[in-house]
Amino acid sequence: MSAGFTSRPLGALDLDRAASLHREAFAELGERGWTRQEIAELLASPGVAGLLLRQDGNEIGFALCRTAADEAELLTIAIQASHRRRGAGRALLECTIALVREHGVRSLFLEVGDDNPAALSLYRQTGFAPVGRRAGYYARAARPAADAIVMSLVLK
Ligand SMILES: CC(C)(COP(=O)(O)OP(=O)(O)OC[C@H]1O[C@@H](n2cnc3c(N)ncnc32)[C@H](O)[C@@H]1OP(=O)(O)O)[C@@H](O)C(=O)NCCC(=O)NCCS
Repeated sequence: MSAGFTSRPLGALDLDRAASLHREAFAELGERGWTRQEIAELLASPGVAGLLLRQDGNEIGFALCRTAADEAELLTIAIQASHRRRGAGRALLECTIALVREHGVRSLFLEVGDDNPAALSLYRQTGFAPVGRRAGYYARAARPAADAIVMSLVLK
């Protein structure tokens, strides 16, 4: 991994950091961030795994995915705002893809708001293609709901 990024499995001791990263990142989008408890419950549910991304000793991002048979879903990904546009999101997404590939996953899915150009661009750049749309899926504070774009990546 480039630029000094390292990743490791997200564990019970990382829940406070993950919740704070999620709250910060999703407040910007007008969404409520997930609480420590919600992340803990997700991590404890079948097939769910998380990764924590570090750079220079700082925990700067995390991702969660759920695997079922040969399909997986990216549940969330967030990078600390002060560390963005330096390849961290791409590095973490690539680690997540490598993790699910190790578990025999052939297709990775995700949902992203159509008002989230940063994430849409990251996913397109990584090879995800749009496969569907859910109208008004994301409630937004103080602005109209956003559609969800469903995207998938076929893993060879
Ligand atoms: C989406 C997110 C994870 C990207 O993290 P990042 O570390 O900035 O991403 P990278 O630096 O690896 O950028 C990879 C590519 O994503 C795209 N991208 C990232 N930020 C962008 C922005 N603000 N505007 C447009 N494109 C952007 C670009 O294509 C970029 O490649 P480039 O730098 O070569 O142009 C980060 O913006 C974030 O945490 N956002 C809030 C939470 C979120 O939206 N999560 C996804 C929900 S579905």
